Amino acid sequence: MYMKPVNFQGSTVADPTESPISCRSAAGAPAGRVEHPLPTRSRRVRGRVGVPLMGVATEQELVALALALGARAVQPWSPAEQTLATAASTVAPAIVEQFREQISAGQDPLGEVFCALRSSVERRPKGATYTPLPIVQAMLTWAENQSGPDRVVDPGAGSGRFIVNAGRRFPHAQLVAIELDPLAALLTRAHLASSALQGRAQVLVADYRSVILCPFSGRSLFIGNPPYVRHHLLGQNWKGWLTRTAARHSLPVSQLAGLHVHFFLATVEHSQPGDFGAFVTASEWLDVNYGSLVRKLFTGPLGGSALHIVEPTAAPFPDATTTAAITCFRIGEHPDPVRVRRVASLGELGALDGGRNVSRERLDAAGRWTPLTRNARKVPEGYVELGELCRVRRGQVTGDNDFWIADEETDLPPAVLYATVTRAHELYRAGRFLTDSSKLRQVIDLPENLDIFEGDDKKRIEALLRRARAVGVHKGYVASHRKAWWSVALYEPAPILATYMARRPPGFVRNTSDARHINIAHGIYPRERMSDRKLTALAEHLATHTSLADGRTYAGGLTKFEPKEMERLLVPSPEMLT
Ligand SMILES: C[S@@+](CC[C@H](N)C(=O)[O-])C[C@H]1O[C@@H](n2cnc3c(N)ncnc32)[C@H](O)[C@@H]1O
Repeated sequence: MYMKPVNFQGSTVADPTESPISCRSAAGAPAGRVEHPLPTRSRRVRGRVGVPLMGVATEQELVALALALGARAVQPWSPAEQTLATAASTVAPAIVEQFREQISAGQDPLGEVFCALRSSVERRPKGATYTPLPIVQAMLTWAENQSGPDRVVDPGAGSGRFIVNAGRRFPHAQLVAIELDPLAALLTRAHLASSALQGRAQVLVADYRSVILCPFSGRSLFIGNPPYVRHHLLGQNWKGWLTRTAARHSLPVSQLAGLHVHFFLATVEHSQPGDFGAFVTASEWLDVNYGSLVRKLFTGPLGGSALHIVEPTAAPFPDATTTAAITCFRIGEHPDPVRVRRVASLGELGALDGGRNVSRERLDAAGRWTPLTRNARKVPEGYVELGELCRVRRGQVTGDNDFWIADEETDLPPAVLYATVTRAHELYRAGRFLTDSSKLRQVIDLPENLDIFEGDDKKRIEALLRRARAVGVHKGYVASHRKAWWSVALYEPAPILATYMARRPPGFVRNTSDARHINIAHGIYPRERMSDRKLTALAEHLATHTSLADGRTYAGGLTKFEPKEMERLLVPSPEMLT
């Protein structure tokens, strides 16, 4: 059934491709490489084969559900969605009803099923990490307090968490969702229709950077979670777009900028003075070189007014332990001072008010902004935070050390056995250097694809997996949430290893033996190549200058260093490390 598209600003849309808010590419927008291949596969819910999540087991069923929930009522439709709809399977009316009820209760069951059908690894190339509702609500409360919008634009709408909740909050606003992935777009349509918002909503299957938004005389709110996709997955054509577009604003660009940076720039392009917005992103852009474009946009044409930093402890992004930044802006204004705040839990977000004042001039002058979000501390001349040089990462969780740490008499092939630090005292015992890993226990780390094994090796691995199943190892929480339950996926050897929980300062050990580590230790990985000499000097400095006072002390005197706390340790800058 073809439904006549919504009439926006008095224009009747005869054909979706002639929508006043068109999804045609803007002049000068690049064509060519498709950054986000469209999903076409039939698949079942990962890790729970044959056990549907909320009664939905395949993407075709999810499409059928979206159609049953009224997705067709939200226009304009794209050919890609039409193709998906043609291949839809069926879904029981009781399931449709269950989804409708949950949506009415303010939940996003469609988004949850989508994320269960596609693992975080599969969603990563599109940057599809959906936003927890408390963040969505806090950002919308902030928007409400800015006296509300006439139109809401949600770039990269996913399953429609922002646009639907915005529609509920702002009963007179027009709603425009832009999403590249046709399946996600269908979910947004269904979400909107189930919330009775179809009458003032449009969903455009388009690239946010090149979509043409129709001229609008009212105030637009731009709100959402721009996709985080690293630069090496972005085509040269879009990198060219970034350079050309930034040049028009006389702004510097780095070719290392990720897709979320492109979205900030596209927002400046799509907006006009009086518009406003809030985006939640990873906080990386505050400090790294490629983030300078966002920093310049913030203090320039974007009109940044506040930054709220969400610590990873609050799990701002369910798929990654990342610090998040919520950026609030008022296009065309130059709010001074800017409000800056850090929160450790989502409950503290409130209405995104409060925070310390930081002058625009200080922001403009600073190369890194994270230090400005913290209460000042004295940094000796020439020192930097460890996090500036290195990433600190807790070791991999095996899910069952008793099973995955091999017995001494194991007959498994050496290729699947990795000498690994599995006890903190192994690091204390090593002293400053771990040069010999032969005394360490070995972790069994099988690849996801077991077809590469043949003969005796294959038999031994099959016997191991039979033993694992017999004792339920595959059903453990960690194993059942892995891509392949048998594959521990240890991290690469870290050149410096550190203990992080004891009644004594952490042990920092230079690892020259390529030993792996599990989650009893942190690995310290340089962000850029660092010579052996400098790594050794860095480990030595950390070992001799870190005190218990730098960590977080728990009742009973146990002191713990979370990775982010360790990244805050002050160390000599690379030039001083000799
Ligand atoms: C971080 S997710 C956010 C989803 C949703 N707004 C939320 O917060 O729950 C980003 C979304 O942007 C979409 N996307 C990726 N590249 C895009 C592009 N160039 N234009 C429009 N959408 C894009 C992805 O498919 C994904 O759904």
